[in-house]
Amino acid sequence: MKVATTIKETRELVKAWKREGLSVGLVPTMGYLHEGHASLIRKCREENDRVVVSVFVNPTQFGPNEDLEAYPRDFKRDSELCDSLGADLIFHPEPEEMYTDPHAFVSIDTLSETLCGKTRPIHFKGVCTVVSKLFNIVQPDNAYFGQKDAQQLAIIRKMVQDLNFDIRIVGCPIIREEDGLAKSSRNTYLSPEERQAALCLSRAVKKGQELISTGCSADFVLAPMKGLIEAEPLAKIDYVSMVDALTMQPVETVDRSVLIAMAVYIGKTRLIDNFSYEI
Ligand code: PAF
Repeated sequence: MKVATTIKETRELVKAWKREGLSVGLVPTMGYLHEGHASLIRKCREENDRVVVSVFVNPTQFGPNEDLEAYPRDFKRDSELCDSLGADLIFHPEPEEMYTDPHAFVSIDTLSETLCGKTRPIHFKGVCTVVSKLFNIVQPDNAYFGQKDAQQLAIIRKMVQDLNFDIRIVGCPIIREEDGLAKSSRNTYLSPEERQAALCLSRAVKKGQELISTGCSADFVLAPMKGLIEAEPLAKIDYVSMVDALTMQPVETVDRSVLIAMAVYIGKTRLIDNFSYEI
């Protein structure tokens, strides 16, 4: 497995593979890899001749008071994991390699304004920008994203369609701890007490999945979910919402495919979880 820190080196390697007619898959990550990322890398390994994993904590997707500096990093562990999963290349640039000041941004308005976009107004602009750059640098045939970041996945699908990227976007299921907590690099911030409290998210997901049916009102599903979270003293709801699965706009009734998503602060840590209901 190779590690490239420059755009030039990455492009040269990928071009050589393409000249041989090999297919290339990309797994974009911010590192501190866990079982969720491993599932994306495994799927990418199954479906492509060559596997590229990017490890880059992207500064443009963090707001001024967010956890950019504190975001966990362990490149040695990440590269060992990628190697053991059969990755061919890690692209691990410094911020200066990726951004000059000033630089262009890519953004998608409406879909980025609900759910996480309300609390994190610049987040998806940063995500769209870095993902477009990674797509242009690596030029993969397939790119792999987790459904835990369901809004991000919907936005990337729309961006790929709108900007005519010739890339197949593959969404992969949420990977959970045995007790239900969705795997996240941010789980590492939780104290043992908070780790227990964080289970209210997956309990709310389970409750919502039990209640939802075609034609029922959003409130019928959301109110008991919110109740479960509010009963947890260490939890503070950012949002628990039902939106159209494609447009990310709120819906009142389950009359189409929907995403039920939540962001909840457990102490200072903001966690997300979701489930989809398809019609
Ligand atoms: O989901 C993530 O880890 C990031 O948002 C991504 C897609 C790697 C872009 O920085």
